[in-house]
Amino acid sequence: EGTLGAAAAQSGRYFGAAIASGRLGDPAYTTIAGREFNSVTPENEMKTDATEPQQGRFDFSAGDRVHDWAVRNGKRVRGHTLAWHSQQPAWMQNLGGGALRQAVTNHINGVMAHYKGRIAQWDVVNEAFADGTSGARRDSNLQRSGNDWIEVAFRTARAADPGAKLCYNDYNIENWTWAKTQAVYSMVRDFKQRGVPIDCVGFQSHFNDDSPYDSNFRTTLRSFAALGVDVAVTELDVQGAPAAVYADVTNDCLAVPRCLGITVWGVRDTDSWRAEQSPLLFDGNGNKKPAHTSVLGAL
Ligand code: XIL
Repeated sequence: EGTLGAAAAQSGRYFGAAIASGRLGDPAYTTIAGREFNSVTPENEMKTDATEPQQGRFDFSAGDRVHDWAVRNGKRVRGHTLAWHSQQPAWMQNLGGGALRQAVTNHINGVMAHYKGRIAQWDVVNEAFADGTSGARRDSNLQRSGNDWIEVAFRTARAADPGAKLCYNDYNIENWTWAKTQAVYSMVRDFKQRGVPIDCVGFQSHFNDDSPYDSNFRTTLRSFAALGVDVAVTELDVQGAPAAVYADVTNDCLAVPRCLGITVWGVRDTDSWRAEQSPLLFDGNGNKKPAHTSVLGAL
């Protein structure tokens, strides 16, 4: 009995899901999503290719469909995402240097103005660091536009909507021993020291055989929180959805006072971007899986 959202709310947290606008016409989907979750992240609808398909011509139709559904159903919204190397519209992929810097600033201003006061957390920058042992920034048109592109994005975002929590979001930063984790940690420490406005770090938490969950995730969450930022589990899915891993992740968040909440990256296994891994809390028929029971028990 009980729902994930209500159980998370008992400790002042939320339990959310990525929601796809194209599925909002499926009553089996909306019944589960409406019942279980109290936070929504648009899975694709607020990405740059969706919101600014032509330069300077914004399109909020799909983003608004998800946002409206969330508000009608009493859920908060995590905005995802303003500056990312992937899912850029063609015009942005073809930009670089000063033209790209100005375009990203304009993009952040345009999208954040539309949703001003209506987004709890924004993933301002997504996936800016490289995988592997280098600890370097990821190569991209954004990175090539100047190493300070991330702080420019955060300063722009703060001015555009001072009421939103501003997050840096990435994957493979859950394991405290990984170079990528340490690189992001150093950036956040530097931003806090220099007064660059950052409020939160999102840990995507796409766990699979290549990037498995490790119990040092709790150390990671604690260490970032100690820098003076909130933390959140933003895109959780786990290959095979082992109940124990889902419980561990839940307990890790609950152990850290600055962990705001958990978002799973989809509703049913058949809705997942990694459907073949059956990584979510509901099966394709909408039945609760053992991991659902274990999360609910941990919350
Ligand atoms: C994924 C979506 O789930 C897919 O539908 C889409 O085709 C590709 O993007 N990290 C992120 C998310 O920040 O935006 C990605 O979402 C998954 C990885």
